[in-house]
Amino acid sequence: MDGMRNTQYQHIQTQRIAGAMGAEISGVDLFQDLPDAVIDEIRAALLDNLVVFFRDQSLTPHQQLAFARRWGEIHLHPFMVGMPDCPEVLEIRKTPSDKRNFGGNWHTDQMFSPAPAMGTMLYAVQVPSVGGDTLFSNQYLAYDALSDGMKKMLSGLRGVCVGDKKKGGIPRVAYNAATIAMKTVEPPKDVQTTSMHPLVRTHPETGRKSLYVGNHVHWLEGMTEEESAPIIKFLRDHSARPEFTCRFRWRNGSLAFWDNRCTQHNAINDYPAETRVMHRVTVRGDAPF
Ligand SMILES: [Fe+2]
Repeated sequence: MDGMRNTQYQHIQTQRIAGAMGAEISGVDLFQDLPDAVIDEIRAALLDNLVVFFRDQSLTPHQQLAFARRWGEIHLHPFMVGMPDCPEVLEIRKTPSDKRNFGGNWHTDQMFSPAPAMGTMLYAVQVPSVGGDTLFSNQYLAYDALSDGMKKMLSGLRGVCVGDKKKGGIPRVAYNAATIAMKTVEPPKDVQTTSMHPLVRTHPETGRKSLYVGNHVHWLEGMTEEESAPIIKFLRDHSARPEFTCRFRWRNGSLAFWDNRCTQHNAINDYPAETRVMHRVTVRGDAPF
């Protein structure tokens, strides 16, 4: 990755925002039907920086969707209801009456799916005057920093990833209804919401290994929950060490596009008296290996 950090692009400019990961891209208006050459450079910047940010964009949900489709098919969320006139786009809205926020923990999106989303595009419609930043963590660095002994122990281990586990004994739909305004539905019967994935995955485009843990991992294959818990706790704490992270401060019109295959993220819930409205689209991914 270091070798690509100073990549010169023809169509875009990039500016790193932290040592570990993350770059702002300028010189692009995302509402346009961008030439393939520009998309190719954004892809290179994404693979190099793991999350890329665009400022001062003006996007309707359909324009955001069109940009997302340049990366592949859209991954629909099995629990959350999309916008009425654009169901592929999920409006993430938090108001002062919501007790908690959506995505307020370290995770990678829809890890409970057999083929989790490759990437997520989040567009800021209305942000608080201060607060509501998002943290990201580089899971290549998290893996690389493990000892050889730990790497050896993890190789071949799989995590059991659960999407609809009861929260404090309360089913997910009821829990969400009591704590957030966003509407949650029971997933269709044919949609799988528990999956097993390797704790160390290989990125299909870069070939690099990364740690693959997040709040959806509840126990490890072949172990009890009690045996799994300390290992998972260590990995989750380790994966979010400050030196692996970057922090993005949103403005209205900012768009973040992150690679779920090698990152985790955490939406900070620190704006109790204000409203935050974001539009999200997720791009379909492959089964991790
Ligand atoms: Fe998320």
